[in-house]
Amino acid sequence: MPERWTPDSWRKKPILQVPDYPDLAALADVEKRLSTFPPLVFAGEARALKKSLARVAAGEAFLLQGGDCAESFAEHHPDNIRDFFRVLLQMAVVLTFAAASPVVKVGRIAGQFAKPRSSPTETVDGVELPSYRGDIVNDLAFTEETRRPDPRRQLSAYRQSAATLNLLRAFAQGGYANLASVHQWMLGFVKDSPQSRRYMELADRISEALDFMRACGLDPESHPELRTTDFYTSHEALLLGYEQAMTRVDSTSGDWYCTSGHMLWIGDRTRQPENAHIEFARGIKNPLGLKCGPSLKPDELLRLIDILNPENEPGRLTLIGRFGAEKVGDHLPAFIRAVQREGKIVVWSCDPMHGNTITSASGYKTRPFDKIMQELKGFFAVHQAEGSYAGGVHLEMTGSNVTECTGGARAISEEALNDRYHTFCDPRLNAEQSIEVAFLLAELIKQERAAKTKPLPAAAGL
Ligand code: TRP
Ligand code: MN
Repeated sequence: MPERWTPDSWRKKPILQVPDYPDLAALADVEKRLSTFPPLVFAGEARALKKSLARVAAGEAFLLQGGDCAESFAEHHPDNIRDFFRVLLQMAVVLTFAAASPVVKVGRIAGQFAKPRSSPTETVDGVELPSYRGDIVNDLAFTEETRRPDPRRQLSAYRQSAATLNLLRAFAQGGYANLASVHQWMLGFVKDSPQSRRYMELADRISEALDFMRACGLDPESHPELRTTDFYTSHEALLLGYEQAMTRVDSTSGDWYCTSGHMLWIGDRTRQPENAHIEFARGIKNPLGLKCGPSLKPDELLRLIDILNPENEPGRLTLIGRFGAEKVGDHLPAFIRAVQREGKIVVWSCDPMHGNTITSASGYKTRPFDKIMQELKGFFAVHQAEGSYAGGVHLEMTGSNVTECTGGARAISEEALNDRYHTFCDPRLNAEQSIEVAFLLAELIKQERAAKTKPLPAAAGL
């Protein structure tokens, strides 16, 4: 029998990645205030997302999850939110068409503020200070004052999340997500791309499909489902005091939901089965993600699945592999076999970002576009070989024209990284690179579908 779960039962467990708050009374005071604030999301929405993810697990939909590595207070601007949403929708149109199935749209946004660090401190020119742990904890600027964890920043993160989510809801439901206009933006992208010829064919086929639909009387003016979309939020459940404060009983079901976002994930650094982060996650009913890196063993994965999804509820758990382009083929097959052998239902998603981070000659943390694509190809190839469903992707991306990842059709060089390197944490795909990933993914999905529908060779002699 598992021990009884309460929103604070994680506090009795070992925990990693905790900020060292100098004033614990101030921290407790903030958490108390947060716990009286309105929820950011409604439990019914988290249930709807779980249902959609259950369709992904069954191979009937595709998960597109993406956004900043770390959101920041400084870049809380409506244009940034709009540009991100716009790019995600363009990707979604391409993928919906390619997969011929719904795309579940989940942002790493409206709450993605807390960052795990490899070291608790950072030393610059002989000065040692606490590491930057994300804007919800401290400030990136390297001074003693700004690096000191300040609990009041949690209140700012809450308010920023609320404002961001408010705009996203307006965009998703208020007409901005109109399929016809999203498609027009996408055509603009294709026209300007150095890979125009390669992407044009798919874009033309989508145009024809939309024209045909319109001719049949299916247009966004008369069909609200063509001008609205369901958009969900997600972030890493790292700062557990904040997450606990946002955890409430849903009055319709009597279940606990963490209302800081629709979906929460546990990072690869904090997924120890006995520890606090897994303890917290197991008791909330939201859909969960689990980051799986090369150090995870299949047995441990099964144990985590049992803890996080004991009833084997479809849509509850998304396994987000982040192995690296060279390692995905070595690690993923054993995971898939273990999960299939035990009859566990999961969504298989691929994070091709975190296993492919390198430092450029000029000292920038970067990710080569080709490595990102190579991991995605490996992910699809493994699933095809194992007879399982490659269900989704998890990307670090932005709608802005940054230069943080090298490569892509515009071939950003290592020297060019310096031009617009703006990230607060890891390097993100820029707008063009993100849409390109969608076009290249479309090709992979098309191959996957072709392999599935291939007629069996005629049985000779029967
Ligand atoms: N409502 C459908 C969906 O969300 C179709 C749709 C409307 C759509 N606007 C969109 C799809 C924008 C992708 C992007 O899938
Ligand atoms: Mn990251």
